[in-house]
Amino acid sequence: MSNIKELDTKYHLSPMSDWRSIADEGGRTLISRAEGIYLWDTNGRKYLDSMSGLWCVNVGYSCKPVKEAVARQLEILPYYNAFFKTSNLPVANLSKLLSSLCPGDISHFFYGNSGSDANDTVFKLVRAYWQSLEQPQKRVFISRKNSYHGSTVLAAALGGMDSMHALNDLKFEDIHHIAQPYSFDAGRPYNDESFGLECAAALEQKIQELGAENVAAFIGEPIQGAGGVIIPPDSYWPEVQKITKKYNILLISDEVICGFGRTGKWFGGDNWRVKPDIMTMAKGITSGYMPLSAVGISDAVYAVLTNQKKEFSHGYTYSSHPVACEAALANLNYIMETELLETLSEDIIPYFHAKGQELTGHPIVGEVRFKGMLMAFELVANKETRQRFKEDIASICRDFCLDIGFIMRACKHTMVIAPPLIISKEEIDTLFLMILQSFDKTFKKSQGV
Ligand SMILES: Cc1ncc(COP(=O)(O)O)c(C=O)c1O
Repeated sequence: MSNIKELDTKYHLSPMSDWRSIADEGGRTLISRAEGIYLWDTNGRKYLDSMSGLWCVNVGYSCKPVKEAVARQLEILPYYNAFFKTSNLPVANLSKLLSSLCPGDISHFFYGNSGSDANDTVFKLVRAYWQSLEQPQKRVFISRKNSYHGSTVLAAALGGMDSMHALNDLKFEDIHHIAQPYSFDAGRPYNDESFGLECAAALEQKIQELGAENVAAFIGEPIQGAGGVIIPPDSYWPEVQKITKKYNILLISDEVICGFGRTGKWFGGDNWRVKPDIMTMAKGITSGYMPLSAVGISDAVYAVLTNQKKEFSHGYTYSSHPVACEAALANLNYIMETELLETLSEDIIPYFHAKGQELTGHPIVGEVRFKGMLMAFELVANKETRQRFKEDIASICRDFCLDIGFIMRACKHTMVIAPPLIISKEEIDTLFLMILQSFDKTFKKSQGV
């Protein structure tokens, strides 16, 4: 087995990785098998996966209907493109189903393979929209600092991650970033109405500064995931929606993490009755079993884009892929038929939240916040002042988690979890015992014990 590890180190360039450190440390952990909410590596070690892979394996790793649907579709039609006036049954059926699930009148869908390529699609759709309305000067996108919209050049530029901007020198004059609604970081109480309104006002100020006639769209994740599960105050999204309407700016909701049950509702924006003009979807659409993304547009946006005959010169070889679309259909039908979201709301989410709340008293935890099946723990050196640790305490904590036998993600000073939606109460008990152990060990280490 070590031979394979050596080969992996030598030939495989893994994403978001420091390859030099991986080589120095003797290679990566090879994951060989998964079941339910658990993973196993090639040494037979078992890990509870509290991150659903990368926030995507919503139905867990053992969903037979999705596996069978993929196998069936591979036999029938493994691939054909949708470029030249052809389509296929799975994509037609999936589009119909998505139109019934999406908020408002989002009912037309363009497909790709990842959240990143979907946001690139969004950018071009928005350009085409304003050109169609003969307002081509409306070019500017407003996004938030510390947001994540993907890893392609454009999606990373839309995002507000300092590290990605610094590495890639992503200065686009048509992309501007405003403050994020991160109350803990701003020293504000959780779900503070006035803080939500202040953060929304930052959008209005930016629009006025740039001139509404130049601003095309505002893009945001309903809850910032990779930024550290940043849950905005309840006042934030309704106010943002009002502002985008007032200034005639398209509202884009990036539902790549929040979509398909992650927050207990079909979409994250549903928590605040957000009715976007455009939506980005990926990850949970197939629970990660096949790569697929979708961009949904409203009837109004569709009407503008089709007000004249003009090709939308954009597409991917695997757009509308029949196997990926069939996987999505099976995944979404499974969620509906098993009434997974109902079980979550009535039973699992309240239990999950109560368990999280028990950790608020831990000496290293400054705040526990949650929405649906998303949860964040702010790690602090001083609970009263919210002072952070000087060292990279979250990475230290993440390494303890792996030693203990579970996977929890570190986002700067914050530990985050987003377990598969099929997790049971017993498994939640196990998870929180492990989290407690990891916090205890991290606290001891911070005290030099
Ligand atoms: C909100 C959001 N948008 C877009 C993306 C990019 O998706 P992908 O990694 O599939 O390109 C991510 C990935 O984590 C995300 O969290």
